[in-house]
Amino acid sequence: MLSAQSVPVVRATLPVVGASLNTITELFYRRLFEERPELLRNLFNRTNQATGAQREALAGSVAAFATLLVERPDERPDTVLSRIAHKHVSLGITADQYPLVGRHLLGAVAEVLGEAVTPEIGAAWEEVYWLMANALIAIEARLYAEAGVESGDVWRRMEIAERHQESADAVSLILRRPDGRPTAPFRPGQYVSVRVELPDGAHQIRQYSLSTAPDHRTWRITVKREDAAEATVPAGEVSSWLHAHAEVGDVLDVSLPSGDLVLPAAETPLFLASAGIGITPMLSMLDHLALTSSPRPVTVVHADRTPGDHIHRAEQADLVTRLADAELHLWYENDAHRSAASNVLAGRATLDHLTPAPDTTAYLCGPLPFMRAVRGELLTKGLHPSAIHYEVFGPDLWR
Ligand SMILES: Cc1cc2nc3c(=O)[nH]c(=O)nc-3n(C[C@H](O)[C@H](O)[C@H](O)COP(=O)(O)OP(=O)(O)OC[C@H]3O[C@@H](n4cnc5c(N)ncnc54)[C@H](O)[C@@H]3O)c2cc1C
Ligand code: HEM
Repeated sequence: MLSAQSVPVVRATLPVVGASLNTITELFYRRLFEERPELLRNLFNRTNQATGAQREALAGSVAAFATLLVERPDERPDTVLSRIAHKHVSLGITADQYPLVGRHLLGAVAEVLGEAVTPEIGAAWEEVYWLMANALIAIEARLYAEAGVESGDVWRRMEIAERHQESADAVSLILRRPDGRPTAPFRPGQYVSVRVELPDGAHQIRQYSLSTAPDHRTWRITVKREDAAEATVPAGEVSSWLHAHAEVGDVLDVSLPSGDLVLPAAETPLFLASAGIGITPMLSMLDHLALTSSPRPVTVVHADRTPGDHIHRAEQADLVTRLADAELHLWYENDAHRSAASNVLAGRATLDHLTPAPDTTAYLCGPLPFMRAVRGELLTKGLHPSAIHYEVFGPDLWR
């Protein structure tokens, strides 16, 4: 909790700090990377830096955290922190890196707001930073302990056992331990980080959801290639590299699984809605439910451009038929793919004809407009906001 003397100071300065947060975080990253350029080359996602997405995610999380501290001091802001902590753990972030980040973040607050930052205001915001940092450090320490590893020791060498072209722009890689031992356990819905060395020598890291159940001796990731869109939008760095270079027998740096989009243990109904490449965590959940002969009612909704773009289409249908009480609803945006089958519809996904039970837990993964629309419909149909979970395939600018 924020100290009694800091609460009024943070409350009074939140609007001005909040209004400048994007400038503050931009300056923060500039100063951080001036001092430690290798962090930009080898740890942070440099495309997220170029587009400003990471700046926005950091600013959003600090604003949300500070607001909760002053407006609802009795609430634990775990939901804001859990996703960040899981992402940090999948990158191997350690407690000793927090003072460096804090120094540059608080330095940027002082530089942007200038003389307005009295010693009292500086101290109050330093307290906010360390409350957030210590909460993250504690969650991260627990996650490392649960994985049975030393802090930050998450990187493993994984060999590509198989490579499958799933569609024109999606490839699956089956990963195994080079020593042949079983892969580390994980929970369906979790992801790994993959680190590759790019042609300019930089090491860049991206996350990929594990797309089969934990019960196999191997892991599978499915990577969609991000092509250049226009002259101003270059191709995605890591996905293009993996498509062009990752071959059977190669060894990749892969982190231990992480992520908080995981199935609850209860037996209540599930609603799994995905679009495009967002199918990957849902496949892991479905595979797990099928392997454990789950009796849970499961509604699966998937939207794609065309059946040809719909990766793992046959596998998804097969998993649904293997479940005791599951139904599959598909939408293809392109009207030409209207189908005689009653569960295949043309156009954008809507939940008009579906009635989820009130105790349903929903999982969403896909582009933000898709998830916003589905979430809105689920709320209208009576689901509680806390029962709707989602994964963003990038910095979370939604929360
Ligand atoms: C938890 C999680 C799970 C994920 N699971 C999967 C998965 O299962 N499968 C999967 O394929 N992906 C997944 N992703 C996404 C994945 O991590 C990468 O973001 C994705 O592969 C793109 O990475 P990249 O290096 O190829 O593209 P980047 O270089 O990171 O670029 C990202 C996008 O920005 C565009 N871009 C580049 N430069 C600019 C610029 N200057 N201005 C505007 N746009 C620009 C690129 O064309 C590209 O479309 C997941 C992400 C997260 C966070
Ligand atoms: C209180 C301190 C911190 C806060 C509030 C914070 C916040 C965040 C947020 C909001 C994200 C994006 C999560 C998402 O994907 O949605 C993130 C990612 C990340 N953080 Fe932190 N963080 C902190 C400390 C640190 C430290 C000490 C490091 C180590 C240098 C670090 C390195 C990273 C990296 C590398 C990413 C991934 C960035 C990317 O891939 O674009 N963070 N952090």
